[in-house]
Formats: sequence, C-alpha cells, structure tokens
Amino acid sequence: MTTNPPKLKTTVAANERVQKLKNAHEQKYGKSPLFYAYAPGRVNLIGEHIDYCGYSVLPMAIEQNILATVSVNDAGTIQLANTNPHYKDFTVSCADIKIDRDDPQWYYYFLCGVKGIQENFGISHLAGMQCVLDGTIPPSSGLSSSSALVCCAGLLTMEANNKSLSKVAIAEICAKCEHYIGTEGGGMDQSISFMAEEGTAKLIEFNPLRAIDVKLPDGAVFVISNCCVEMNKAASSHFNIRVVECRIATKMLAKARNLEWSRLFKLAQVQAELKVSLGEMLSLVDEVLHTEPYSREEICKTLGITPEELCTDLLSANTQHVTHFKLHQRARHVYGEAERVLQFESVCDSEPAESIQLLGDLMNQSHASCRNLYECSCPELDQLVDICLKSGAVGSRLTGAGWGGCAVSMVPTEKMDSFLQAVRKAFYAPDPRKTTMEKQSLFMSKPGGGAAILIEE
Ligand code: GLA
Repeated sequence: MTTNPPKLKTTVAANERVQKLKNAHEQKYGKSPLFYAYAPGRVNLIGEHIDYCGYSVLPMAIEQNILATVSVNDAGTIQLANTNPHYKDFTVSCADIKIDRDDPQWYYYFLCGVKGIQENFGISHLAGMQCVLDGTIPPSSGLSSSSALVCCAGLLTMEANNKSLSKVAIAEICAKCEHYIGTEGGGMDQSISFMAEEGTAKLIEFNPLRAIDVKLPDGAVFVISNCCVEMNKAASSHFNIRVVECRIATKMLAKARNLEWSRLFKLAQVQAELKVSLGEMLSLVDEVLHTEPYSREEICKTLGITPEELCTDLLSANTQHVTHFKLHQRARHVYGEAERVLQFESVCDSEPAESIQLLGDLMNQSHASCRNLYECSCPELDQLVDICLKSGAVGSRLTGAGWGGCAVSMVPTEKMDSFLQAVRKAFYAPDPRKTTMEKQSLFMSKPGGGAAILIEE
C-alpha cells in the first residue's frame, strides 16, 4: 500500500492485507470491491485537551489504520462487516440513518461519517454501499481508532456518491459529524488523519485549519505504550465535563474583563479578544478564578444567568448531573499547554544542541499538567509513564483523551532496545493479562501518511 499519497486518491498494489480483505468482501457480498479507503490513527506528541479550546496541537499519524473495501449499489442500504468478530455485522436503510448516543456501538462511528457527508452535500438519495472494515489501531487506547473510523466512512461515502472535497474541508466535516455520537472533541484527530504526510509530524492550527510540517530531531524515536486500561470517551462523561468546564471558565474570564462573554465559547477567544500573551492569560486565571470548585449557584450568580440557562446553554446532554466545576485548574492547564506546544515547535525548528532534552522536559511538564490540573490520567498510566522515564525515555506523557490508553515516550535512538526490554520487564511481564496484550501495546512509531481512497492497480 502506498503510505504517502500526495492526493486523496491513489492506486494500491494488492498486498497481503488488501488481498485478504478483498477475498472477505467477495465472500460476503458475492462481488469485488470497487475501491478501498483508509484512514490512520494518530499519536499526539504534545497539546492535550486544547484543540476544543481553539489552540494548536502537535500530533503525527501512526502506521496503524482502518482499511475498508467498498462496493456501490442502488439497493438503498448500507451493509457493514468487520474482520474483528467482536464487531457484529450491521445493515441500515440509507433513508433511516440514526445514531444512538446512549449506545456507542462501532457502526455508529461509521454512520457519523456517512451523515456528515450527506448533510454537507444535501444528498437525498445516498448510494447503497457494502463494506468490510479492518482495523489495526488498538481500540479505546487514545490512538484515535474511533475518529479514524469516522474519517474512513466520510471519505468512502464521498467517493461512493461521486463527490469531492479538499483535505481541509473533509477534515472539518468529519470533526463536526463525530459530535453526533455525543462527545464534543476538537478537530485534532480528523485533521491529522487527513492531512498527515509520511516522515513529518504536524502543527495543527484551527480557525482556519492548517497543518504545518514539524521536523522531529534526529537521534530520538517515539515509542507508544498502552497501559491496558480501556477508555471509551463516548461511554462516560469525563471528556464532556472537561469541555464544559473550559466553556464556563471562558465565560467567567471574559465577564471579569468586561468582554461580551455570551458570544465567547473557547479559552483561545478570550486571549484573542484581550490581545495578550499566554503568560498574561495564566496570570489572569490566577487573579480571576479561585481554586475551589465552583458550584452551579456561584456560576449562575456571577454570570447573571438562571439555572435553566446554565443547563441548556452551557452544559451538554451528558453533563446535566455535574454539581461542581474546577475552572481554575482546567484553564491553567489549557493556557500552559498551549504555550508548551509553541515551545515544542520552536525547539524542533531551531534545533539547538540540547533539543532532545528540551522536548523531553516539555513532554514531562505536559504529563504533570494533565495529571494534576486536568485530572485526565489514571494510576496505571502514571505508573507506566514513571517506568518509561526510569527505562531511559527523556520525556513521557499520556496521549489522547487519557483516563487510560497510551503513553508516548521520546527515547534516544541508542537506548531504544534497552528501553523496550526494561518497560517489558517492569510493566508488562508481571501481569499475565498485560503480557498477552504486549505485542500490540508497545511499539515504536514514525510519522505516517494520511487518509486516502485507493483504486486497485
Ligand atoms: C480526543 C479528541 C481530540 C482531543 C483529544 C485530547 O482524542 O477527539 O479532539 O481533544 O481527545 O487532546
């Protein structure tokens, strides 16, 4: 498979995986696929939980991806099968696409992508499709397997319905339509899935969406390790609670500075309105917000809104039960992390002699902030990060949403073998469950290419 397609559409030689999937498609549906689509997962190197606040992030695509076969028909149905028997077959009428937020099944992520394309183009009669999906991204591990599925579905729906879009446009559609599942993520995962290029990490900026190459220093590799605690962000409210806390902090800071707070929703907008540095935003957070959690009453009183307005305008469907909000801690994390992303990029750009140490330090600060201020780590992930640092990494941090899933570590190339051995021994070997998961849980990753439609050569 070509892994660095310059365009959204490219050709593919039938390698072993493609051939296997083609056979599965023929067996299931009695005909050959018309085309294939794939979308990669990602690892975020730095910039956690700040994309939905409007700040830039720094991920790279990984080699693991979702690959799908597609045949098109006029039967008026979408038929899905998955090579993983854990994910059951699913058929739905094109005229009756519904996404059940209370039951985040695998195929609903696919339907998010379908719906995003349908609504963008106002397609009244969707093409019927038959697909077999094959995923190599470990699920619920912070490597964006769900967004890759949304992106893959959006892309193949676009192609099956003879539409075309730029990478930026389809990334934006897929970021929005993933909200149908109920999680209010930012646009990082979908943007890197489409805009990745082999060999380079990307600084992803929002409003407008842009992906800028970031050359990672020679002499170090990035290793991903899974703490083996699964986190399905659509099945819990942790993620949306953080989104809501950031939204309320935005309003409180804006109000304190006499801005038109009702039209501001993201922490980055407050900085833009005030035209101050991230350092000054940190001071503002200390000055305006207290560290004790805010009650609903206090928020309503400060903003001059009713409890009903708080529920409808600021809380999401799955955060209606929350009584207290940690605004100071969350806002400090966001502004601090936004600053670290810029520092990380600038070190990569200027390549000082001590690049690797500087980048490692930033990653360690990021993890501490995620753990202490944003509280999106968990004991197993903290233990894994500690083990990675003791095993020779210069920096190690949780990656993705957190509360489980993976850590990413920066390891000097010459220490890579001893690092893997030490992490294996200290983290995976003592626990038989982790030992069986080790092969797909501990691996080195280089920046991979972005999503594409593949036509067989
Ligand atoms: C999930 C979301 C992203 C981002 C990360 C945390 O992956 O989909 O948009 O918010 O969590 O950085």
